[in-house]
Amino acid sequence: MFELRPATAADVDALIALWEVAAENDARPTDSVAKVEALIARDPDACTVAVTPEGRLVGSLISGWDGWRAHLYRLAVHPDVRRQGLARRLLTHAEERLVALGASRIDAMVLEGNDLGQSLWKSSGYESQSEWRRWVRPVG
Ligand SMILES: CC(C)(COP(=O)(O)OP(=O)(O)OC[C@H]1O[C@@H](n2cnc3c(N)ncnc32)[C@H](O)[C@@H]1OP(=O)(O)O)[C@@H](O)C(=O)NCCC(=O)NCCS
Repeated sequence: MFELRPATAADVDALIALWEVAAENDARPTDSVAKVEALIARDPDACTVAVTPEGRLVGSLISGWDGWRAHLYRLAVHPDVRRQGLARRLLTHAEERLVALGASRIDAMVLEGNDLGQSLWKSSGYESQSEWRRWVRPVG
């Protein structure tokens, strides 16, 4: 029912619109067309989108691989099409890509209090590591 394919520059506006209504959203830097275009140019396979037969973009997942670590970001499914297994499909697709590239471990950042997200990661075999905290410094 949903086609999974790499995002292209033509998807950028729809992606940003999806993330406004569907992505985990807490104090993250503002999205911009230029940033998303840069992601797609840097690795054209990193951002997978799910599209309805009518061409509506309803899901996304970014899988980042830098040759050392594998990270998943922006797992988002539009509220209209949730609970149909789409997040699971996006995740399986991204995991297969990362393993093919050489990953032996994959991580994801999940907000404390995001019960929905935590339920998904747990039921997909991910465990939280309470001994680690994320340290960040804004640059640029
Ligand atoms: C979390 C999210 C991606 C799930 O998308 P989805 O397509 O509805 O998920 P799926 O149908 O593939 O469900 C996969 C599993 O997630 C869990 N899950 C999904 N929705 C759930 C809900 N409403 N209540 C409890 N568990 C839920 C279940 O374990 C489910 O497996 P099951 O159907 O076998 O029980 C979607 O709700 C979303 O976009 N949420 C906002 C963004 C977000 O929090 N993303 C995760 C960032 S860490």
